[in-house]
Amino acid sequence: MDKLPSHHCEQPRQARPRKQTKAFRGLLAAVLLAVGPLAYLTAVTVDFGGRAPSQVLPINAAEIVSKCEALNLTPGPPSNFHERTESDRYEAGTKPVLIKNATIWTGRSEGLEVVKGDLFLVKGIIKAVGKVSDELVKKHKDVTVVDAGGAWVTPGIVDMHSHLGVDSAPALRGADDTNSLKGLAMPWLRSLDGLNTRDDAYRLSISGGVTTSNILPGSADAIGGQAFTIKLRQTKERSSSSLVLEPPFSINGTENYSGRPRWRQMKHACGENPMRVYSGTRMDTQWAFREAYNTARELKEKQDQFCAKATAGQWKNLGSFPENLQWEALVDVLRGRVKVHNHCYEAVDLDNMVRLTNEFKFKIAAFHHAHETYLVPDLLKKAYGGAPAIALFATNGRYKREAYRGSEFAPRILTDLGLKVGMKSDHPVLNSRFLLNEAQQAHYYGLPTNLALASVISTPATILGYDHRIGFVKPGYDADIVIWDSHPLQIGATPKQVFIDGIPQLEKPFFTDKPDFFQHAPEVPNFDEEAKDAIKYDGLPPLETHKSKKDVVIFTNVTSLHIRVGSHIIKEVFDVSSAGTSSKGQSVVVKDGEVQCFSGQEECLASFVNPSVEWVSLEGGSISPALVSYGSFLGLHEIDQEKSTNDGKINDLLKKENPSILGEGALIRAADGLEFATRDALLAYRAGATVGITAPESNGFLGGLSVAFNTGSPHKLAKGAILQDVTAIHVTVDSGDSSISTQIAALRNLLYGHGEGEIKQAFHDVVEGRIPLVIKVHSADIMASLIQLKEEVESHSGKAAQFTFSGANEAHLLAKEIGQAGVGVILTPARPFPGSWRSRRILPGPPLSENNAASVLFGHNVTVAIGVEEQWQSRNLRFDVGWTAIEAHGAISKGETIALATTNVEKLLGLRTPNTDLVAVERTSLYDFGGKVVGVISPREGAVNLI
Ligand SMILES: *[C@@H]1O[C@H](CO)[C@@H](O)[C@H](O)[C@H]1NC(C)=O
Ligand SMILES: *[C@@H]1O[C@H](CO)[C@@H](O)[C@H](O)[C@H]1NC(C)=O
Ligand SMILES: *[C@@H]1O[C@H](CO)[C@@H](O)[C@H](O)[C@H]1NC(C)=O
Ligand SMILES: *[C@@H]1O[C@H](CO)[C@@H](O)[C@H](O)[C@H]1NC(C)=O
Ligand SMILES: *[C@@H]1O[C@H](CO)[C@@H](O)[C@H](O)[C@H]1NC(C)=O
Repeated sequence: MDKLPSHHCEQPRQARPRKQTKAFRGLLAAVLLAVGPLAYLTAVTVDFGGRAPSQVLPINAAEIVSKCEALNLTPGPPSNFHERTESDRYEAGTKPVLIKNATIWTGRSEGLEVVKGDLFLVKGIIKAVGKVSDELVKKHKDVTVVDAGGAWVTPGIVDMHSHLGVDSAPALRGADDTNSLKGLAMPWLRSLDGLNTRDDAYRLSISGGVTTSNILPGSADAIGGQAFTIKLRQTKERSSSSLVLEPPFSINGTENYSGRPRWRQMKHACGENPMRVYSGTRMDTQWAFREAYNTARELKEKQDQFCAKATAGQWKNLGSFPENLQWEALVDVLRGRVKVHNHCYEAVDLDNMVRLTNEFKFKIAAFHHAHETYLVPDLLKKAYGGAPAIALFATNGRYKREAYRGSEFAPRILTDLGLKVGMKSDHPVLNSRFLLNEAQQAHYYGLPTNLALASVISTPATILGYDHRIGFVKPGYDADIVIWDSHPLQIGATPKQVFIDGIPQLEKPFFTDKPDFFQHAPEVPNFDEEAKDAIKYDGLPPLETHKSKKDVVIFTNVTSLHIRVGSHIIKEVFDVSSAGTSSKGQSVVVKDGEVQCFSGQEECLASFVNPSVEWVSLEGGSISPALVSYGSFLGLHEIDQEKSTNDGKINDLLKKENPSILGEGALIRAADGLEFATRDALLAYRAGATVGITAPESNGFLGGLSVAFNTGSPHKLAKGAILQDVTAIHVTVDSGDSSISTQIAALRNLLYGHGEGEIKQAFHDVVEGRIPLVIKVHSADIMASLIQLKEEVESHSGKAAQFTFSGANEAHLLAKEIGQAGVGVILTPARPFPGSWRSRRILPGPPLSENNAASVLFGHNVTVAIGVEEQWQSRNLRFDVGWTAIEAHGAISKGETIALATTNVEKLLGLRTPNTDLVAVERTSLYDFGGKVVGVISPREGAVNLI
């Protein structure tokens, strides 16, 4: 097959041969020696213009020579850049801003410098940092003064890998400009040409402190095209081009050869993605690279030969400068003038690219995604020009083979080896609004505080080649500044204000003052052993827990104990955790997986103390109910993009008939497809999500029956592995091939008893209130129709049916009606993103709105839970719970917080056998970045599982 475009270089246009006289050549040589080519040629064209020498000297000889000389210039700012008193991005009318009393993380000294003081922003740049004299301030009119009250201030966040504006939100057919499928190596394409100025994510990402994003083409091609780094704020011009930070002159052909060029950016991708799209192999992709680079190299050599002659004055038969618009950008890569961003994961692919850089002598700025880089540091160092930087996700992994060995410890392992690590969003893969959360997680798993902050601010600024103006707080730098409501590495850190080019971006920010505890970087647990194991086991360290060999385990130095009473009540037994280190930790006795007693019940305690007891100190930590994870294919998928590792999809009943062997009205049960000990399930278990509730994967309207299982079990027949075979019936009324009205008609039919076989029975159970109907739905309009349908069915049957909305981005718009209808809501994801038209009317939460959806729904007595969308996220459910509560700033009680991922999710999904596990957490709680899960107390298994 031939999907590749012709890679043959066009022949440069041959100019008419010209003669050079002997005398002229002599003069040329003499002057060249004396004053250099540029000065000489200018003089000569004037002297001889129009007469004999003009036959040999092209009329634009001076320009050609300066163009040739400029080929050797490296990109960067002009030498007087830092003398500027006004930004090139300054918008007239922007008022000067004086931020007083800030705790400023400047990014300098490896991210270790913190300056307490003031910050003065004038004409789009930082005028002064630290002590700002009254004299200086008085020189300016109309100064806005912001009292930061000691708050943390950082440079704006820089996302080095984003598709914002090209893979737009909401996703619409007319707004997908991420990948071109018209070739495999297309350095001539430009993300700027697809940059939609109407993406909802600009505003949202700014509200998370992101001020600059590098907009890359997608990874469907080996060479997907040129990337452009943009600032996210709206400009007065409202154009795509005006967003670009330091636009390379090539974007509109206004090349100016007398100054240094600006950095260009380009996307490369190896491995699976180009392979899949072009049904080729790694060998094909790599050949596409080599063929393209060879074309560029030949062109570069022609240019260099041309220029050698031109600058030596040998114009005879020289012709014109060899150029080719398709390949000029790749030639610039060979000239070291382009930052190459290489989507590349596995050792095999990294090795291919390292070889390629040495064959063609070019540098890769960063390997992106790069899940195996931490396993092959020596290979990285062999790359031409030194080891590239590494751009990573924190915990997003295992979605394809290439990501299977990804490790949460990669950032710390790589930085320990002296490599540069940046965290990135790949927006909208991760919502870049929360890019900071990637740095927080990397910090949690061992990346030092200074490097964690740098990983989303100054490191990416440096990797992109813009560290002369962004990523640092320094006089003369762009006035891109974030004032935070807590230390930025604390969970839920939110901007109080964001400045881009000195312009405040949040019109009416909502925030609350967070307690002192939040104003310091979290004290994170020690994961040294786990990090070593990641390497020792080649990326697949064993994740199983081990049962305590003792019948009795006594947890000591416990500062809070929450337990479950019955199905629906969370009880605080004691909680002195907020009292700090002065508090006295208590002991909790567990026998055969059941809590027996705790300090205060001394007799009981004494009766258990004997030499065969296992003692576990929680060092001031806590014991609380284990979580239930819902929303992903946990237990049905091992590697999302590898069919052979998954249960597979069930047919869309509205489209296809099931094979007759299934019988009429067969209903698929997730329980039949369960796989145990998937890595995501084991990671969930180790993070306190000990139960998963999972519905079958469906292509359309009718899902099937969900199952509740123990995420830590080795197989289905193990004790306690299945909590409940069938928990709820699932349908989706959202997008799909059938119309929404068809989907609702189908649901109505089923609820009125018109189904067949098992389907008929299951919907009868829904009508009778015996099993919940879980409807995946985002749109408030659809929810309204469903509420009406529920009323209709109930008035017909006279019984109360249990409906649960999952997804529910727009539920806040109907909070009152949902509450009155007695419908429950599982917010999935916990923090909404307007990914589709039907999910776009989100309640974003602080700082854009005072409330989040959870608090609004709680306010209307709705039973609210939170879910996750992908398996890898189950391990982060514990943090999502904490984060949701922080966003709700006090509107949700501690009990309600815990209920979000325990009792409420069970109730909404029909789990009648509650998850009675308790999680033992060292140092702090399950819900913040201080705690480490060390054990699961399991009455189901009659044991304590230690980690
Ligand atoms: C800065 O703010 C902190 C916290 O509000 C306050 O304690 C301190 O006195 C302030 N310092 C100055 C110089 O205003
Ligand atoms: C072309 O782009 C450069 C770089 O952004 C800009 O300075 C210049 O004004 C643009 N020229 C025109 C004619 O738009
Ligand atoms: C080219 O760049 C130089 C140095 O930056 C500047 O002084 C000059 O005005 C520019 N020329 C044009 C035509 O833009
Ligand atoms: C309990 O743990 C805290 C935090 O690690 C520690 O400061 C304290 O000394 C411990 N108390 C006892 C009695 O071990
Ligand atoms: C929620 O329930 C409480 C207690 O039953 C009741 O007092 C309150 O009015 C209800 N609120 C709403 C908005 O229905």
